[in-house]
Amino acid sequence: MLKCKYPKNYFITRQSLQKIPDHFIFKHTTKYSSGLNEDCFTAVSTKNPKEKAVMYCYPEQVYRRDMGWVNSLYISYLDSMDHPRRGLGTVLLNFATKYSEQLGYNGRFHVEASNLKNEEEVPHVFYKKFGMNTGRRSIDKQLDVFVQQGKNATYMDFKTMPMFYPPIQYEIKDKTPLLKRIIKSISHYFSLRNKVQE
Ligand SMILES: CC(C)(COP(=O)(O)OP(=O)(O)OC[C@H]1O[C@@H](n2cnc3c(N)ncnc32)[C@H](O)[C@@H]1OP(=O)(O)O)[C@@H](O)C(=O)NCCC(=O)NCCS
Repeated sequence: MLKCKYPKNYFITRQSLQKIPDHFIFKHTTKYSSGLNEDCFTAVSTKNPKEKAVMYCYPEQVYRRDMGWVNSLYISYLDSMDHPRRGLGTVLLNFATKYSEQLGYNGRFHVEASNLKNEEEVPHVFYKKFGMNTGRRSIDKQLDVFVQQGKNATYMDFKTMPMFYPPIQYEIKDKTPLLKRIIKSISHYFSLRNKVQE
């Protein structure tokens, strides 16, 4: 006959259950024949395991107006799938900051904010809310209006464009001469093309 109403470690179990985080993050890396290693992080809610979001990323060099060419984590794809607006997109961007720090990139990451996946609710406003910007004053101001008014933007409002974290600082003028920038952009483009073709 069972004498105890609860197992002996009932209280210990309760305490440790309270410490379970709201989500777990799993990592998977894909190695391409080009030599590119792309990481895929999946954030899963512990309250409802059906709620998940994925983020694909890899390190690359990017041109930032305020810093010139720097190493940064490129988020090639972010998707909270069937459960948007449950916080998992933000969880993964917070994680990207930490991962980028771990890689020695001082928390820098960038995305190509795309209006292809959901034309009626483009992700630009979400990224701006997180603290990213495009580095283009007029567009960033426009994005701020959407954030302040809590409005969604559509493909009619913003086209696909790069966005950066930490945000580009307008006060710092680009000191790289134009010709050098053009040469670097061309060589960067060809090195990427070669990587893809390899
Ligand atoms: C964009 C996306 C990744 C955001 O992830 P998410 O899990 O929905 O985001 P969160 O729940 O963390 O949202 C954080 C805040 O941004 C807001 N937000 C999320 N997506 C938004 C969007 N498309 N437009 C405006 N605001 C948005 C949320 O309402 C929330 O606001 P709050 O803090 O005031 O409550 C997700 O909506 C998605 O998968 N979209 C389709 C795929 C896509 O376009 N991916 C980006 C490719 S570059």
